[in-house]
Formats: sequence, structure tokens, C-alpha cells
Amino acid sequence: MTATIHTGLTKAERGDVAEELTKVLADSFAVYLKTHGYHWNVRGPEFFSFHNLLEQQYTDMWNALDDIAERIRALGVLAPQSYPAFGNLTSIKDGDPEKEATAMLKELMQDHETLIATARKALDVASDAGDEASADLMTQRLAAHEKFAWMLRSTLGGR
Ligand SMILES: [Fe+2]
Repeated sequence: MTATIHTGLTKAERGDVAEELTKVLADSFAVYLKTHGYHWNVRGPEFFSFHNLLEQQYTDMWNALDDIAERIRALGVLAPQSYPAFGNLTSIKDGDPEKEATAMLKELMQDHETLIATARKALDVASDAGDEASADLMTQRLAAHEKFAWMLRSTLGGR
């Protein structure tokens, strides 16, 4: 017997929200991976502060990946789980370990802005569907990524 889902959301609503959450998951995975790589490969006189800033950010994103994927599962949809699947779902480009430190931070700041746009779209779709739990998760992710973008921007001397 197949257990059916009765959560007050239609199958179509669950599918629409899960599709947007899957894009957020893929973007988050890509930014996580790049942030962790730059944590390893960043070089220069600011090494320790950049290395530690990036560790804070990738740790948050690593934990968020599980929350986002499990929300997709709670909606009755399978989560992607391979590098090719994630690669096909995200517009975030791979990082380059040869980059100079401030170029790494600038790239990550822009990636957070891309991710913020993806999460904002998911928030809208979740709100329209009346899916408060997904909307709440996206609100939390927006706050986190806006904070990370601000920290990177300020580290680079911007407001
Ligand atoms: Fe480390």
C-alpha cells in the first residue's frame, strides 16, 4: 500500500514549491562548495580573517542543505543527490582556486545575490501556495544570505 499525503496542499502546489526549493538547494550546494574551496585556497596577508569568515558561512550553508532537502521530501518530492544533478539545476559557476583573495570574496558576494533571488522566488511561490513551512524556511535563508552578502561586501570596503 502506498501512503498518501494529506497536508492541505494539493499535489500541484507541493510540486510547484518543491521545484523552486530544489533550485534553492542546488544554488546553496554550489555556493557551499565554492565557499569551502575558497576557505582552503585563499591566500594573502588577510588569510586568517578570510579563512575564518568563510568557515562560518560554509558551516551555516552545510546545515541548511539538509533542512532544504528534507523540506522537499516533506512535500513528497525526491531531492537531487548527485554532482551532475546539482550542476544542471544551478546557474552558479565553479570557483577558481587561482583567483586572488579579494576576487574570491567579490565572486562569493555576487553568488549570494544570485541565491537571494532564487530564494525570493521560492518564497513567493510558497506563499502563494499557502505553504507556510516552506515560506518560513525561505525567509530564514534570505536573512542568512543577505547577512553573508553584507559581510563580504563590507570586508571589500563597501556598505
Ligand atoms: Fe577548515
